[in-house]
Amino acid sequence: MPNHYLPFSFMKIFGKIEDITAALAQIRAQKKTVGFVPTMGALHKGHMSLVLRARENDVVVSSIFVNPTQFNNPEDLKKYPRTLDKDLAMLESSQNDIVFNPDVGEMYPSNEREEHFEFDGLDTVMEGKFRPGHFNGVARVVSKLFRIVEPDRAYFGEKDYQQLLIIKKISEKLFPEMNIVACPTVREPDGLAMSSRNALLDETSRSEAALISRALFQVRELKDKLNVTELEKLVSDKINSSSSLRVEYFEIADERNLQPLTEINEHARAFIAVLAGKIRLIDNLSLNF
Ligand code: PAF
Repeated sequence: MPNHYLPFSFMKIFGKIEDITAALAQIRAQKKTVGFVPTMGALHKGHMSLVLRARENDVVVSSIFVNPTQFNNPEDLKKYPRTLDKDLAMLESSQNDIVFNPDVGEMYPSNEREEHFEFDGLDTVMEGKFRPGHFNGVARVVSKLFRIVEPDRAYFGEKDYQQLLIIKKISEKLFPEMNIVACPTVREPDGLAMSSRNALLDETSRSEAALISRALFQVRELKDKLNVTELEKLVSDKINSSSSLRVEYFEIADERNLQPLTEINEHARAFIAVLAGKIRLIDNLSLNF
């Protein structure tokens, strides 16, 4: 997308790295703080909650970039929802100041060597097992975006909890000055965690998908009465008995290092991935309540 300004809008939209870095240099020269919300577009209220939280800074920058390197499945990349005009209108109405919307060539020049990241084991469980290479792709794009935007704070939703820990890990190593701010999962009225992928669900899967969060909340309720194996069985029986949902994994793990727990403690968090028809949904819930 060329750099342009929406008619009657104060929000600036940049597609080129050199243009956004020039604009941000001016902002930094005025000693203003910058909050950053990286997204892949198809925005919903969950993203907007990140933008609203980021207003604690002087300037809010969001990015919209469907990052090809984090998709291990080409079909998934092809069908990922793209709703740019609606996204820009939503950002504008949430008082976002700057949007970075580069194309693939801008972010990944063809002569560039792939960077590899070390996550100290955070990437070998759950999503990492089912989506090989996914977190390296996330780390590649997020570290590029951090180098371009150089925010004071960057905002990520707890819905992608494993991603959040992985981003905290690379930030500690590579961007120690930056704060990673974790924001709570935003849910639909029936409890389904908001996700861009929800728009791809057919009617049956969408109505049955409410079972996912219901199962997690039930685990939280019963955590003192049932053991981990019994809780796992409860969740898979409940979800797999629907017509369109199949559990890919359900794990109770320590929320500090994602290692599976055999007994629930104060750091326990329940994690789940479910195939709803052909759409993969994830969710998680702290059991520390
Ligand atoms: O969570 C997302 O939308 C993406 O993984 C992110 C962090 C924007 C990187 O592409």
